[in-house]
Amino acid sequence: MRIEIPREVERFGPIMFHDVQKVYELDAGLKHARNESKPKEKSVIRRLSYESLQEIQEQMCIIVPIRNEKIKLIEGVLCGIPHHCQVIIVSNSDRAPIDRYHIEKDALEHVCKFMKKNVIIVHQKDPKLREACEKSGYKFLLNEEGEIKNGKAEGMILSTFLAFLSGKKYIGFIDSDNYFPGAVHEYVQEYCAGFHTSKSDYSMVRIAWHSKPKIVESNLFFAKRGRVSEHTNKILNALISSFTGYGTEIIKTGNAGEHAMTMDLAINLDYSSGYSIEPYHYINMLERFGGILDNPIPAVLKQGIEIFQIESRNPHLHEVKGEEHVESMSMEAMEVIYRSPLCSPSLKQEILEDIYHRGLLAEGKKIQETLTYYPAIVNANLKVFQDVIKNEPYAELLQVDLSNYKHSKASGLQRDLVKGKKINLPESTPKLEAK
Ligand code: GDD
Ligand code: MG
Repeated sequence: MRIEIPREVERFGPIMFHDVQKVYELDAGLKHARNESKPKEKSVIRRLSYESLQEIQEQMCIIVPIRNEKIKLIEGVLCGIPHHCQVIIVSNSDRAPIDRYHIEKDALEHVCKFMKKNVIIVHQKDPKLREACEKSGYKFLLNEEGEIKNGKAEGMILSTFLAFLSGKKYIGFIDSDNYFPGAVHEYVQEYCAGFHTSKSDYSMVRIAWHSKPKIVESNLFFAKRGRVSEHTNKILNALISSFTGYGTEIIKTGNAGEHAMTMDLAINLDYSSGYSIEPYHYINMLERFGGILDNPIPAVLKQGIEIFQIESRNPHLHEVKGEEHVESMSMEAMEVIYRSPLCSPSLKQEILEDIYHRGLLAEGKKIQETLTYYPAIVNANLKVFQDVIKNEPYAELLQVDLSNYKHSKASGLQRDLVKGKKINLPESTPKLEAK
């Protein structure tokens, strides 16, 4: 791959937000490619050889969350994931009246024989996984009936436990409803490119789609950004600006469903429910590590967190799930920013105006608290989790050696820890652009 270095970097305490990076060549050859001139010291374009990307793939788990998607679509997604990655599918597909999960599992296991892929497939409501959450001290994922809750975020958190137990160093997420296997392949390569250039054990790569094709008046139109992310990005940037005093547009991936993290970062972040999980990554990183509140992990202060935003070349085409779905996703993003202890009263007002203006909430109404927060998974005893599932058929590849593992005392949610503490919030927030 040939990729530009980030043009800008915005710093917030130890967090480095890198600007969007453009990819100039998807495949730039092997390590010792012929005709390749020696890298120039100050080149703004980096060539990443196939081998360097493969090295990262070998240490990466790719999580595919599924809920009642078409099997043909999922098959395409699997086909696009580079061979060396460990794939973990967490499905929350229906079990009754038709057992869609059973059909899905059967079909995917069959096709994986042809792909020679070793895929771990689990159901979100698997009773052993439920028991593992309970016994390891991570009941947060369970509902009143004692089952693991529905939701994409909940599936992702559960799969982060499994990815940790696989012993891999990186975890990446790919939605299962992507129509282009080529796009899936590209996203994973871009995750690898980000990690290859990262200098910190705490880093994250988020994909900024180049375009999203739509039919407009019988023609194909390649929209640049999704409608939800446009608003999420604007508010997240306003939050950063309110502390730095400088306007910024650095965040362009507020809702990035396609993202990857080092495992060290993934197990240390708090999460939030549903589709607010991706904007909350930003919020929680600022809350935990931004330097305004206490920083619970000294190593993060030392190494810093690096966030890469990489612009993909393939268009992003996925299942259309309706207007209501898009609106509720946007409301969730707004709620999670609004509820942050870092959100100043003036930014709260800006958020309200934005959602009133878009008709997502009736004028004068308050934002309802619909989201749940989940503490970082280091709060769970991961050895106990492993012991509970160790004899399950899917656990064969989840046997990382934890004999030296020490469970540190659970610290709970960062946002609860700061309750009652004095936070110096900015008095004013730069006004968002005119609507
Ligand atoms: N395991 C599991 N459990 N998976 C789920 C669940 C669940 O309860 N609900 C949805 N999924 C799966 C879907 O099958 C799909 O593969 C993926 O999660 C994303 O869900 P979509 O419903 O397709 O979301 P979207 O396309 O509207 O939004 C995506 O893109 C946004 C913008 O990038 C998501 O990835 C969002 O999180 C993201 O913000
Ligand atoms: Mg989708």
